[in-house]
Amino acid sequence: MAITLDFSGKVVVVIGGTSGINRGIAELFATHGAKVAVASRKQEKVDDTVTALRQLGADAMGFVADVRELEVLEAGLQTVHDRFGDFDVVVSGAAGNFPALANDLSGNAFKSVIDIDLRGTFHVMKTVYPLLRKPGASVINISAPQAFIPMKAQAHVCAAKAGVDMITRTLALEWGATGVRVNSVVPGPIDGTEGMARLAPDEKIRSMVARSVPLGRLGTPADVGNACLFLASELGSFVSGTILPVDGGWSQNSCGNMSEYLGNAAARTPGS
Ligand code: HXC
Ligand code: NAP
Repeated sequence: MAITLDFSGKVVVVIGGTSGINRGIAELFATHGAKVAVASRKQEKVDDTVTALRQLGADAMGFVADVRELEVLEAGLQTVHDRFGDFDVVVSGAAGNFPALANDLSGNAFKSVIDIDLRGTFHVMKTVYPLLRKPGASVINISAPQAFIPMKAQAHVCAAKAGVDMITRTLALEWGATGVRVNSVVPGPIDGTEGMARLAPDEKIRSMVARSVPLGRLGTPADVGNACLFLASELGSFVSGTILPVDGGWSQNSCGNMSEYLGNAAARTPGS
């Protein structure tokens, strides 16, 4: 039988799914028939996303949670499980980023990114596991090239995202026996996103970044979403523990001049 990308009747949960790349992923699953739940810190972003997902024809819901708060996350995910049942797909993508040289990072600044990206990922993994469909669930962590390409002004992000990928690889080992697959997707520079606004804030640097991508363009949230559809579908049924760059080859090019650009920019404006 031909494999389809029909997610009708499937339950997809996207943590940090209310803007940018993660919202694009949520919307793509919605257009492929899934029931979709999203969560993030801000009620208005959750409401706006749920409305948009419903306009795409999905049965959708959302809740407010900060991934740093385990109990709040647990309570919110339980409401999704109560209404939609076992989770077929979980995308964990909440993250924080700002460029700052290590010498300009306070202990709390470093901790804030570790808490959101790394501890937050662990909280999501720990909380969703009992609620996953077993066998069959696909769990996808949204990582970043900083996980394996060192970049100036990104020590906090490099450390956090490297940890995220090791959580992915470890859980692929621990959860494989129950038929749960765990993978990371590594977006390259994705146009129109908060991440790009923070790291490539003007048109000159934006086009410099685009030129440094071997495929010659910035990515779109749908580029990343398509990889998630693949991983979550039968097409990806023997893929687990992988770290999948969706970056037009950018990381093969050491992410161009991003490190030098960020280092110089952060040195000019410490703490900005
Ligand atoms: C130095 C900074 C800083 C900066 C904040 N801090 N911004 N230090 N330079 N630019 C410090 C603060 O002074 C404080 O330390 C500590 O960090 C915590 O700051 P808060 O504002 O209290 O934290 P919080 O409200 O929890 O917000 C977390 C955040 C924020 C990460 C700082 O920016 C956020 O919520 N971001 C979410 C959205 C986001 O970043 N999206 C982009 C993801 S893109 P002190 O010592 O003063 O207490 C991505 C990869 C992109 O992840 C890759 C592109 C190629
Ligand atoms: P974004 O729009 O800022 O998305 C972050 C999402 O996470 C938002 O929905 C945000 O909503 C939520 N969030 C942030 N902190 C949270 C917290 N503590 N608890 C719960 N939710 C939280 O950023 P983006 O640029 O699209 O990035 C999305 C993902 O892709 C991130 O994991 C990022 O590291 C990764 N990535 C991005 C790029 C890029 O080019 N943009 C490149 C590589 C990797 P609230 O504000 O409502 O909480």
